Amino acid sequence: MKIFREPAKLQKWCRAQKRAGKKIALVPTMGYLHEGHISLITEAKRRKADEIVVSVFVNPVQFGPNEDYAKYPRDEKADLAKCRAAGATAVFFPTPANMYLEHHSVYINEEDLSKGLCGARRPGHFRGVCTVVAKLFNLAHPDFAVFGQKDYQQAQVIKRMVRDLNFDLDIVLAPIVREPSGLARSSRNTYLSPDEKASALVLSRSLKSLKAGKLSLSGVAKAIEKAGLKVDYVECVDAETLQPAKKAVPGTCVLVAAYAGKTRLIDNILI
Ligand code: PAF
Repeated sequence: MKIFREPAKLQKWCRAQKRAGKKIALVPTMGYLHEGHISLITEAKRRKADEIVVSVFVNPVQFGPNEDYAKYPRDEKADLAKCRAAGATAVFFPTPANMYLEHHSVYINEEDLSKGLCGARRPGHFRGVCTVVAKLFNLAHPDFAVFGQKDYQQAQVIKRMVRDLNFDLDIVLAPIVREPSGLARSSRNTYLSPDEKASALVLSRSLKSLKAGKLSLSGVAKAIEKAGLKVDYVECVDAETLQPAKKAVPGTCVLVAAYAGKTRLIDNILI
């Protein structure tokens, strides 16, 4: 497995793979890899990529000033071992300084799908995501890139960016990977105390009940508050346009964000 730290070196290597006719998959991550990330690598393998490039970069530009950039969990050694075991063929570990050169001044703004949901609560977040993902596309020349459905809005925003800026690659969405309890896997779960982790199960459980028709949207919000979490939003939107939908009917997606203590968790379900 190759390890790259310099953007230019990754780019040169990927360009050579491409010229040799290889199919390249990109799996962008912020590291502290868990089963959810591994499933993205597995999906790349299933799609017969010759080279699977995993990027591990906690992107400062997508964090707000009061968010958890500094304390976001990092473990390079463990991430390397997990990438190797999962079948990645290259790992990219850049630093903020070599991703964002002095006087970096170009950013990508998606101006429609980013407006609501997490975009409304985390100003600048999707600008940071789009910018770094576009840079990764330009460095890795992937034939396809794999993202998790857990970050549903992010995936839709990236698909729109690819469409509108004519990036020549496919976006693949992989299903949410959950702990046996139902909690969606996330690097941020590591912040949770055992009690918070137990309370957080209300997210997946209430979404499941909603899909089964046993709970309304407001019922989901109530259940979350009752379990001791603080609701950031519970919204039902059209699964493609992300425009608000009145009812959770087929073709919609219900998304939630809530705080368990200080930890902001997200989850969603496609109806
Ligand atoms: O989903 C993530 O981990 C990040 O937002 C991404 C796509 C790697 C960009 O930094």
